[in-house]
Amino acid sequence: MSSNKNYSAIPVNEDQPADSTSSVPKSRAKKHLITGVIVCIASAILISSGVALLSRGDKVAPKRNVVMMISDGFGPASETFARQYHQWREDLAPKSVMLPLDEIHVGHSRTQSSSSLVTDSAAGATAFACGLKSYNGAIGVTPTGEPCGTVLESAKHHRGMLTGLVVTSRITHATPASFNAHVTFRDYENDIAEQQIGHTPLGRSVDLMFGGGSCEFLSNATEGSCRGDQRDLFDEAKADFGWTVKRTRQEFDAIRPEDPSLPLMAIFTPQEMTAKALSILSKASKDSDTGFFLMIEGSRIDMAAHSNDPATHVHEILEYQQTAELVKAFVRNNPDTVMISTSDHETGGLTVGRQVGEDYPEYKWNPEVISQVRNSSEVLAGMWNKATESKTATEEYLKTVIIGDGLGVVDPTSDEIKRVMEWDPTKKTVEVLITYLSDIVSRRALIGVILRGSHENTEIGDFIVDYLGLDLKDITNRLTSNSGISSFAKPLDEDYASKISHHQRHHD
Ligand SMILES: *[C@@H]1O[C@H](CO)[C@@H](O)[C@H](O)[C@H]1NC(C)=O
Ligand SMILES: *[C@@H]1O[C@H](CO)[C@@H](O)[C@H](O)[C@H]1NC(C)=O
Repeated sequence: MSSNKNYSAIPVNEDQPADSTSSVPKSRAKKHLITGVIVCIASAILISSGVALLSRGDKVAPKRNVVMMISDGFGPASETFARQYHQWREDLAPKSVMLPLDEIHVGHSRTQSSSSLVTDSAAGATAFACGLKSYNGAIGVTPTGEPCGTVLESAKHHRGMLTGLVVTSRITHATPASFNAHVTFRDYENDIAEQQIGHTPLGRSVDLMFGGGSCEFLSNATEGSCRGDQRDLFDEAKADFGWTVKRTRQEFDAIRPEDPSLPLMAIFTPQEMTAKALSILSKASKDSDTGFFLMIEGSRIDMAAHSNDPATHVHEILEYQQTAELVKAFVRNNPDTVMISTSDHETGGLTVGRQVGEDYPEYKWNPEVISQVRNSSEVLAGMWNKATESKTATEEYLKTVIIGDGLGVVDPTSDEIKRVMEWDPTKKTVEVLITYLSDIVSRRALIGVILRGSHENTEIGDFIVDYLGLDLKDITNRLTSNSGISSFAKPLDEDYASKISHHQRHHD
């Protein structure tokens, strides 16, 4: 554990067990290094992230709320990028431009994992949740693959707090999973879903889950399932753990915060979930002695950065900033709430200002290019892929519909056209096509891609432990001794380091 206290608002827990930061055994170190390098090349994750902390109210008050916001894959350059874009779009003077997070910015976190200089979302979230460094791919487990107690679990089982997870990706994705599941590799999402509804030695730890990803919960006899068995976890959640399950937008809209029937899960593809989650949890904990712990992830900032898609990236960031503003307003009205906003890592190695030619660099950027983009590169790549399948992928379609209407670019070069025309789905993935399309915009907006790097991310977990008076060691003991981990967390696969997560390859 680092004893570096560069920002006093986040105390370092000196009681951290000595082994919590131990890196992987020597025999595995080499494999881990290889994973790190592959991750660098495949997704060019950067190492430093912004931390903002807003604290109001009396530190000795027994009733406290924590809203932990995680901007996945959002580094300092992305922050600058979003601010500059906002300034340009609103035609503001530079001095007057403050985004909601700028006003509460207090520092940076160092994010390296136990296996790699470049962390991934799994090790990044495990650092926040368990307050310890683990390896890339680890979901709520130590470097040796054993479950580690999380702040969410301790908030629930020691303090009797209400707990919630709100994400814009799958609920079984690495970031939310690291708070209420324990598996040795992020791709074991079938197991993650089972643990999230309550199949753990602790039972159910979360009261509210809003996010996407129904497929991990549906029996493989059902259309759209991605389970390897016939269990229907929605049914199990209701029957075994008393969950109320909402599966559609209409059902979600009909949820009344006054009458939420917790535990509650809404699994569909969501948008305005934060306001509803805050409203439900604050109303439901109104008459209790304890508050709530809510984790909110802006998941898609990262996904757009993996595809080096600057327009989608900036829009996801600005949406996250609006969510931050909403949480700030909640904190102002609910003084016993602390809001933490941090990234788990940066993604894509974004720079604002790009040297495109061999001449002396101009270091300029052209925000109007970003404003012309109508659709994400992911959507457009999907359209082009379909057109390729149906043999309607003509140069005319590419120029007018995909690049012209979609990307808002009227002057594609012959090389840019050629690269997309020559893309062959049997030889190159759709992800490659997405980067081709993104680059057409990036080159014009003069956005470049390089790597860079800077308080340990584990200190954020330590801070929550300290602020809420939690006991992660006891949770770890219950997780590891109650029913034996063999039937609970899958044993550490010696070979995991050689796998690159399916989800890392597919931009999230
Ligand atoms: C569906 O689950 C059953 C076991 O529950 C298994 O035998 C079968 O192979 C699975 N099918 C697929 C396509 O995964
Ligand atoms: C592309 O963006 C336009 C304008 O925002 C929208 O009307 C259209 O539905 C989008 N296309 C897809 C496939 O999402």
